[in-house]
Amino acid sequence: MDIKNYYITTPIYYPSGKPHMGHAYSSIIADVIARYKRLEGYKVHFLTGTDEHGLKIQREAEKNKKETQQFCDELSEKFKELSKILNLSNNDFIRTTEKRHYKSVEDLWNRLVQSGDIYLDKYKGWYSVSDEAYYDNDEIEHKDNFKISKLSGSKVEWVEEESYFFKLSSWSQKLLDLYKSNPDFILPNSRKNEVVKFVEKGLKDLSVSRTSFSWGIPVPKNQKHVIYVWLDALTNYLSALNYPDTSSDLYKNYWPADLHVIGKDILRFHAVYWPAFLMAANLPIPKRVFGHGWILSDEKKMSKSLGNILDPIQIIKIYGIDQLRYYLIKEVSLGNDGNISLENLKNCINNDLANNYGNLCQRVFAFLKKNCGNKIPKYSTFTNEDRTLTNKVKNDLKRLNELVNKQDLNNYIKQVIEYSFDSNKYFNDSEPWALKKTDVKKMNSVLYSIVEQIKNISILLLPIIPISANKILDTINVKKDLRIITEINDNIALDHDKELGKVEILFKKVD
Ligand code: MSP
Repeated sequence: MDIKNYYITTPIYYPSGKPHMGHAYSSIIADVIARYKRLEGYKVHFLTGTDEHGLKIQREAEKNKKETQQFCDELSEKFKELSKILNLSNNDFIRTTEKRHYKSVEDLWNRLVQSGDIYLDKYKGWYSVSDEAYYDNDEIEHKDNFKISKLSGSKVEWVEEESYFFKLSSWSQKLLDLYKSNPDFILPNSRKNEVVKFVEKGLKDLSVSRTSFSWGIPVPKNQKHVIYVWLDALTNYLSALNYPDTSSDLYKNYWPADLHVIGKDILRFHAVYWPAFLMAANLPIPKRVFGHGWILSDEKKMSKSLGNILDPIQIIKIYGIDQLRYYLIKEVSLGNDGNISLENLKNCINNDLANNYGNLCQRVFAFLKKNCGNKIPKYSTFTNEDRTLTNKVKNDLKRLNELVNKQDLNNYIKQVIEYSFDSNKYFNDSEPWALKKTDVKKMNSVLYSIVEQIKNISILLLPIIPISANKILDTINVKKDLRIITEINDNIALDHDKELGKVEILFKKVD
């Protein structure tokens, strides 16, 4: 049988402070897609981690009066904890201070030297430590006595030092060709257009080493320099696959990556620098980079000074992890900026989870317990209405699959929750409590169809609310290995003989 592999990554996070909702958002998106691809039958490799070198981290450690490595160890641990709290299904967690990563970065550097894409010169220009990015004069503006980047608003400082350069300028045309021949390499399209415009202006060579600080991977054969943190960081995607050992199974099975999930702020690095480095090193290029939008709180970007930061860990403690995952995916249209608020989170929990999907399961299970010996009833024939209910999802599977595969998670979830709404309506309209007295056969087929639909909906919700959806599937005794997309199509009979498993209230209403 053909084994289908899928490699998906999150950005690796700067352990410069504790994780926030923006980090949680990138990770949850990638996890939802990773879980969906597994349901689709793929062998998925899902990577996340921390990006630990560079001046930003070195300065932050100094500010905190900590030795840099220890500072990274402590904060990286917080990100690891967050990935557990978010219930991520990652297969690996990489840290750029690990040996395996050094080996990989050094090898990539050597390839770039060998291909003639690196030369020594002097850098003179602006640098933002907060973005770890170089900016041109026309990307800078003056504000409140400071020079800041027009793009990110962060402060820049003047840098003049010896530096190695990567011949990015010579890759402009090849990059434009790549965007043209792979129209889905950068998604969403609005973002792609920004990148294309940027490259069409012509690219300058990129400074790829620094000499004024030491917290980084030394340039092979010239230890005065450390490698530019973005060249270092991007390579993590290869390091985790045992690169430079290109004969290893991990590398062979998973490179090139299928999807890098990132925020729009780091698109230039992933959609311009990264493919240029890889082309120069003669390595295959990832298939897609998806730049999601920003999470805004009270319509504004979250920041310490505005005091509008939503702490994911706090929110999960109060409302639950599935609730937060569901809300973020439902509320924010992937690719656009989206406002989130506690008020809307609560509304979403009440409307979609407690009153809709939760209520559907609850009332159907309670009815079965009271009227059907706590078992899924046997049916003789289905009515047209029964089949209309369950066939809808089967007919939609292809479209649902396309939605996830173009990262339109927002419309996916809206569609799935609609099935739950329809099922609730079908339960009401069919009045099984009345049928019990007049037509038990019909009552049985109605109930069977609704439970089948609960199974379908729960399978489709597994990527988003894995804990709750699995509990529902446990209750109706669906075997673990049958919790897959193809099972929705296959009409394998539900278990009539076993009593329903434990029923618990999964989504409490919140005020
Ligand atoms: N270390 C780099 C990434 C290197 S990847 C090879 C970095 N780290 S970060 O910690 O600053 O941010 C990581 C991700 O979090 C980015 O994709 C960024 O977009 C995302 N978010 C940070 N704040 C955000 C919001 N408020 N909203 C949504 N995501 C944002 O960049």
